[in-house]
Amino acid sequence: KKRIAVLASGRGSNFQAVIDGIASGFIPAVCVGLITDNPSAYAIERAKRAGVPVTVVDFREFRSKQEYEGALLDAMKGCEADLFVLAGYMRILGQQIVHVFSGRMMNIHPALLPAFSGLHAQRQALEYGVRVSGCTVHLVDEGMDTGPIVLQRCVPVLDGDDVETLSERILAEEHRALPEAVRLFCENRLSVEGRRIRIR
Ligand code: GAR
Repeated sequence: KKRIAVLASGRGSNFQAVIDGIASGFIPAVCVGLITDNPSAYAIERAKRAGVPVTVVDFREFRSKQEYEGALLDAMKGCEADLFVLAGYMRILGQQIVHVFSGRMMNIHPALLPAFSGLHAQRQALEYGVRVSGCTVHLVDEGMDTGPIVLQRCVPVLDGDDVETLSERILAEEHRALPEAVRLFCENRLSVEGRRIRIR
């Protein structure tokens, strides 16, 4: 079984989807840690309930971004994980971390990349006026939301949608896409061929 660790900053519903996927046997893994930058993240409660060890690396406690990155790197190394899942982790990871865990970090993003990267993806989609949006699970590289794509799922954008209704529709697909992508990784079924990922 693979060892996976999750980084989350907030509510942690995607983290929960991974925990549930493991509990049901869908994902052949153990969750060895939750790392959060936010001491009041609801994800912490979810971890406690599931018996997952929590490490808080609160960037406000560090004097510089560099010190914060160092502490985060140490926390990640301490997990000895095969895969790190970014599930609503709202900070950009430094070059060193991206380099050290290259090919072993996955992120979920609430849009069909490369459209609407960065923050407030659902708002960006509404403002642009697209008729479909969705979510993307991708490997993390040096760029922001630019790594090779593992899976995407789409949803319609409906007349009358606001950020809340669209986000909710996308989130339901995130909860399907993320456990599926984590499972593919854990079953060694992903291979990276340049920008493209082949699924066996
Ligand atoms: C999710 O919609 C996730 O895709 C998004 O934050 C939300 C976290 O929800 N991530 C990003 O926007 C990354 N830039 P959750 O805490 O309930 O999983």
